[in-house]
Amino acid sequence: MLIVANWKAYVEDIAKAKKLFAVSKRLANTTRSTLVIAPPAPLLGALAVNNKSKVAFSAQDISATTGGALTGEVTAQAYATVGATYAIVGHSECRAAGDTDTIIAEKLSRALAHDLTPILCVGEHERDGEGRYLSFVREEITAALSILTPKERARVIVAYEPLWAIGKTAANAIGPNDLAEMVLYIRKVLAELLPGKSSSRSLVLYGGSVEPTNIRDLAASSSIDGFLIGHASVDPVTFPLLVKNLA
Ligand code: PGA
Repeated sequence: MLIVANWKAYVEDIAKAKKLFAVSKRLANTTRSTLVIAPPAPLLGALAVNNKSKVAFSAQDISATTGGALTGEVTAQAYATVGATYAIVGHSECRAAGDTDTIIAEKLSRALAHDLTPILCVGEHERDGEGRYLSFVREEITAALSILTPKERARVIVAYEPLWAIGKTAANAIGPNDLAEMVLYIRKVLAELLPGKSSSRSLVLYGGSVEPTNIRDLAASSSIDGFLIGHASVDPVTFPLLVKNLA
């Protein structure tokens, strides 16, 4: 399983960042899951340089550009140079702040150009009775992968994160059956967009109110490959519990 801890802007000081990193390093030595942490940019820089642990680092977002006179932008290359190997792209909080399908497609290209494995976030705003949420997710994936070569498409991880389930509690997360349906659907969409049988190796993650109480059921009832975890990943007690409950 791949577990990605999205620290968002919950972590704002280096002491807490170091503590959470230490917790993850210990966990990484005892779990079969792969642990990836996504700290805010300056904290990622401080922790990832000279990282010799099994914990990998992800950008929470990257610039769609190749750098230049762009105050405040952090490029894929800047993340890669301090040791990040993944990049979250198209998170709903970044989409809400202005990321369009075109920008997201460019960000995927930038990530891949610098060997950051992109974690593409998709997910509907709400569920409807007619299954429109399925075509919504299909369109997001199709638009994001549109400018990539077939080989590049095969390197993208898809994180299904329905907006209605983000930042709540386990009781508000998706149910196991609905998740199983969506994971199969995403695999079908990927099979159509990727060459040959390459989509059989594509990883699909779930994110949205994953907590120690629901992670096991969600994993057991679907063919999910891992989780993208927000609020439950920044508590030094909850996060290890979550990883242990999955095992
Ligand atoms: P959450 O966030 O676990 O706090 O719901 C998940 C995410 O937005 O990636």
